[in-house]
Amino acid sequence: MKPSIPIDETHRRPTAQLEVPPRLLLGPGPCNAHPRVLQALTMRQVGHLDPCFLEIMDEIQTLLRYAWQTHNEVTFPVSGTGTAAMEATLANIVEPSDVVLVGVKGYFGHRLVDMAGRYGADVRKISKPWGQVFHLEELRQALETHRPAVLALVHAETSTGAKQPLEGVGELCREYNCLLLVDTVTSLGGVPLYLDAWGVDLAYSCSQKGLGCPPGASPFTMSPRAFEKLQARQTPVANWYLDLNLLCKYWGRDRTYHHTAPINMNYAFREALRLVSEEGLEQRWQRHQATAELLWDGLSDLGLECHVKREFRLPTLTTVRIPDGVDGKAIAQTLLHDYNIEIGGGLGELGGQVWRIGLMGFNSRPENVLLLLAALKRVLHQ
Ligand SMILES: Cc1ncc(COP(=O)(O)O)c(C=O)c1O
Repeated sequence: MKPSIPIDETHRRPTAQLEVPPRLLLGPGPCNAHPRVLQALTMRQVGHLDPCFLEIMDEIQTLLRYAWQTHNEVTFPVSGTGTAAMEATLANIVEPSDVVLVGVKGYFGHRLVDMAGRYGADVRKISKPWGQVFHLEELRQALETHRPAVLALVHAETSTGAKQPLEGVGELCREYNCLLLVDTVTSLGGVPLYLDAWGVDLAYSCSQKGLGCPPGASPFTMSPRAFEKLQARQTPVANWYLDLNLLCKYWGRDRTYHHTAPINMNYAFREALRLVSEEGLEQRWQRHQATAELLWDGLSDLGLECHVKREFRLPTLTTVRIPDGVDGKAIAQTLLHDYNIEIGGGLGELGGQVWRIGLMGFNSRPENVLLLLAALKRVLHQ
């Protein structure tokens, strides 16, 4: 039999070797991966049950516990992007009709609401204007009113650039006998995080932001308290691929086949985590803070205003108000086409109102800030 689906005209020419422009990724993520991470990505493969790979898996778990400051046994990367790790968290912890209280103050809070509802949760919402954060007393009142099984908060809301303070929230959750679930997608590797000390029971993240790796391996962790809830489930986890009972047999001692782990992605992820430990967490957090402050001061010199109050600003992601009369989209396009610099536009409610500038992982360096500010100044004056 002959192939019946022909290659169309546009693809008939001998295809050229793949080329991509040398972008500087200063948007909401991904950021540019560290060269050592890219090098690790291209190393030759071994099998996903090879003793060498099993050792790599162990190393990844140890390094990830360090990055998150947790002793949680169940700590590993989910194969997929941050949303897959988010889904793993909710699919495993939510049983139909569990009350899940979500703090919504941006786009990703809404995603948590949507996802928890799909797993049958009785979802309750508390909301704040986009760019603001919840105070401890507001959380206490909401826990008192709703008595949830799980409180879900976004630590680093990428749509607004606001950082949710977490000190004291874990204790509050223990007082109300509920689990604390935290989205750390835009904080891990760039913003101080002490999961155990803060009493966080469930957290997830991604590889492509503060960890400076391409997207595709997404950290997940679960405390012993959360694991007890998983063990006590009356209903099976409604997502086979992300069922932790099965995944733990691969990432835990059994080493039973579950799915074919993305080998090279895990090489890269290990290298990204190794860079975190080499630099040291505190130094890394300080670097992100110092680079962000350089940006904030430079933006202010250009007459631009940040959307979030300085005390709640994320060092990894800054939202900048687009001045009246300026076409924000056109500016971002010019930066991309003329200077190879990517920045992001507003998401959801802040669409058209802000630019989003990410300084994450390998990209959080003063030279990138100075380049962006110089380019932005020229483009704004044109
Ligand atoms: C706070 C937050 N949560 C979840 C996600 C989803 O991650 P991903 O796009 O890697 O699936 C993102 C992505 O930017 C995010 O910023």
